[in-house]
Parts: sequence; structure tokens; C-alpha cells
Amino acid sequence: MAGAPARPNRVGVPALSISCDMLVFGGTGDLALHKLLPALYHLHRDGRLHADMRILALARSPHSRAAYQALAERRCRAQVARADFDEASWQGFAARLDYFAMDAGQSADFGRLAKHLGQAEERVRVYYLATAPDLFEDIAAHLQIAGLAGPRARIVLEKPIGHSLESAQAINAAIGAVFDEPRVFRIDHYLGKETVQNLMALRFANALFEPVWRAGHIDHVQISVCETLGVENRGGYYDHAGAMRDMIQNHLLQLLCLVAMEAPVRFDAEAVRNEKVKILEALKPISGLDVQDKTVRGQYTAGKIGGQEVPAYYFEKQVDNDSDTETFVAIQVEIDNWRWAGVPFYLRTGKRMARKASEILIQFKPVPHRLFGDGEANRLLIRLQPEERISLQLMAKNPGKGMRLKPVELDLNLANAFSKQRRWDAYERLLLDVIEGDSTLFMRRDEVEAAWQWIDPIIQGWHQHYQSPRPYAAGSNGPEQSQSLLERHARQWAD
Ligand code: BG6
Repeated sequence: MAGAPARPNRVGVPALSISCDMLVFGGTGDLALHKLLPALYHLHRDGRLHADMRILALARSPHSRAAYQALAERRCRAQVARADFDEASWQGFAARLDYFAMDAGQSADFGRLAKHLGQAEERVRVYYLATAPDLFEDIAAHLQIAGLAGPRARIVLEKPIGHSLESAQAINAAIGAVFDEPRVFRIDHYLGKETVQNLMALRFANALFEPVWRAGHIDHVQISVCETLGVENRGGYYDHAGAMRDMIQNHLLQLLCLVAMEAPVRFDAEAVRNEKVKILEALKPISGLDVQDKTVRGQYTAGKIGGQEVPAYYFEKQVDNDSDTETFVAIQVEIDNWRWAGVPFYLRTGKRMARKASEILIQFKPVPHRLFGDGEANRLLIRLQPEERISLQLMAKNPGKGMRLKPVELDLNLANAFSKQRRWDAYERLLLDVIEGDSTLFMRRDEVEAAWQWIDPIIQGWHQHYQSPRPYAAGSNGPEQSQSLLERHARQWAD
């Protein structure tokens, strides 16, 4: 592959000094075409990649290099904002991009791959496994046999890592036999989102919140990731995973960890991840009949999203007609430690909901003695999507006579505050971290396993007690039972 022409750096930050080959298994899949290549294109256009870096997409289809580049261009054009897509940048990016047809399940194909790559021991090699997790173990073993897993090789695993604790342990052990832990990057793209990192900045760079960030001052926490999308063309995968494995086990538990963890002693991979693991280990188990009390599963039926009729989940492509996979989950979580004893964390995620919104709400306790009648507010809202925003909702007096109060917002609109900078996609940041070998924003082996340890008994509880998903109409706020989960404690979702 030819090296790409050097471009002036657009963002005033030096390009990576590390030259690298990035190999993307699953190169014709949605993740590669929809997320990874557009992210790499942006990094290229901003001049962040080493001039010599090459990208090699791998998949079974017999594409030529030119045909793959044409496919990649179509998908990137659809994904990248028009103003950010220009011909010269694309040509430079395409010069880095190559395609190699191979079957990741066939050991012999890795010998061919090694020949194709040639000797380049001094280069960092990143293997990005954008494939189903049942290929992870084989790919790692085949890379080793072909002599492709030398000390400068790194491996990136997409979630979900397995579908249970046992399968995650098997994958981690197989990967660990080839790559030592610092070279394994388990990606959770939520950790690459700006506002998620801002949550750490908010908590640990401002003295204001720490004294009240605990039981005694906080009434409860809500973490909601609601989507209007359905399962699109991922029905085959999703029908085996469901919302619990697809979202709660990783993204929502990661958000919970960042809200709840203690301040790490340093901002580095070990210190941050040590604190997150402590939270996962402190989650109060939910098992057996508890699932009926503390969890709600749902599945969408036909409805309307943005005025358009959409079908029920069980009519989606590649989904079983009698599927009982959940597309919605709400859970009441407790953390058994000194800081959080008695403070419920409500987690909720769903597809085909009324609006797309990912947010964390910290509801503080009301004042101990109310002077001014009823009032709510007293809450901090951290919104990840659709816009990035942190707002503190306080009670203030209505102008004029009398003490009539109303909630007002102290608003930090991050997109406006940093409006001159293009907002990075989570994958851009995370891909640079992988190349630089920084695993602070990636999940460590024990973290993934601790999350499964807590999740598995809930899924078992659902099956033991035949808790089939409650129907909810597409375009609604989820099943009624999810409202009752909060209403019975006189609370409600912040919809
Ligand atoms: C992925 C899930 O990890 O996250 C998808 O597999 C989900 O089902 C997606 O749609 C949501 O990500 P985002 O960044 O759009 O909130």
C-alpha cells in the first residue's frame, strides 16, 4: 500500500508520531463502514494520523481494492457532514486504504495475510475486531500461529464481550493467552463521548459537587439511554442479545460507574479502572423473584416514530416471529457502599422510544423545611445526546410581588462553549488512544467480568420466572410498568 501524502494539520495539534497498520476485521460490516472509516477519515483530514499509517479492511467478500474504496467512499459521504467531505482529503485517505479478502475462521488465510503485510516489526499493528464475539478466540489464535501477534501488536474488541460471564471469561482467557492485558483494548464507545469525559471533569475538577455527591444529599439518580431507532439491519445479532446485553451490560453500567466511583488517585488507566471495578463489585445482586420487583423488560409493538408507521419488533428483518427478546429494560439498582447506601440508581434503555435522549439526572433531596410551598428542581442534568449539555436546575423567584418560585436552569451548553471546534465522534478519540496505547477509556478484563457477574442472575431470573417482555407502542416512553417502578416511591422519569 502506498503511504498517504502528508497534509497540513488543521487543528494545531501534532499528528501521531506513531506509524501504524490498522487492520479491521469485519471490514464490510456496519460498524466499520458506518463508524470506523468515517472516524479515521476525520482524523486523516485533521492531519492527526501519521503520514505513513495504513488501513487494511478484511472480510470474506471478494472485493478489489478499488471496489472497496468505492464502497467506503459511498458510506463515508453519507456519514460525514458535507462541509467536512472534500475530494483532496478523500483521495489522501483512500491512498491509505486497502482491502484483503480472507476468512477469519481459516488459519491458512492468516498465512496469506502475513505475506501480504510483509515484514514491518517496528510498526504498531492494531487488529480491530469489528466482528461477532464468537470469532474473537479464533482470530487471536490464528494471528499468533501466523506470527502476527508480536509485542507491538494490539487487539481491539468490540462489545459485547461474550453473552454471559462464562463466555466472557472464555474469550478473555483466549485473548489473554496471545495478548497481555495492556495490549487488549475492550472498547465501549460511550467512554469516548465528550460529555461522558466531561462528567469526570465536572466531578473531579470542581470542588463544588463533591460534598453533596452522596447519600444524604442525593435522592436518586436516573441514567436513561432512549433511542428512536429500531434494530435496523442488525436483527440477527440483536435478537440474540437484547437490550440487557447490548446496552445495560456495557454502556449504562459504565455511565453508572463514572457517576458513582470515588476520585481516582491519578487519571491513568489503572487508577481509573480500579475505582470503576469497586463500583461494579458493590452492585447489590438482583436475582430470583427480585427481578419482578426491580426490573422491567419490554418489547416494542407497532407504532409511530416522527409521524411514520413502524412495525413491531417481531416483524423486523432477521427477528423470530415469536421472539421474546427485550428491546427495553428498566432497573432499580442499589450500590452497597458507604457513599451510596440507600440511593436508588434507575437505569433505563429502549429502542423505538418517543425521543432520542441519553442523559443522567442527579436528583438532590428537597430542602429540609419548605418555606415557599411546593417546588422541584434541585437537580443536575447531564445530557449526552442529542445535544451535549450540563444544566443545574434551581428554584428561583418569579419577578413581582409575592414569593412564587419556579425552576430555572444554569446552563452549560458545551457545543456553544467550544463552538469553534468540530465535535469529535467517540470513535475518533478512542482510535487515537489505541494507537498511542492509552487504555484509560477502555474496559479492563475484570471490569467486563464483574459486569457480567451482576447481569447474569437478572437474565436467569427472567427465564426462571417467565418474565416475558411487556409490550409498549413504538414512539411511547416504554411499558407502563417502567413508570410504576418509580411511582411507587413517589418519583418519576424526567421525560
Ligand atoms: C451500540 C448498540 O453499542 O450503541 C446499539 O449496539 C445502539 O444497539 C448504539 O443503537 C447506541 O449508540 P449511540 O452512540 O448512538 O447512543
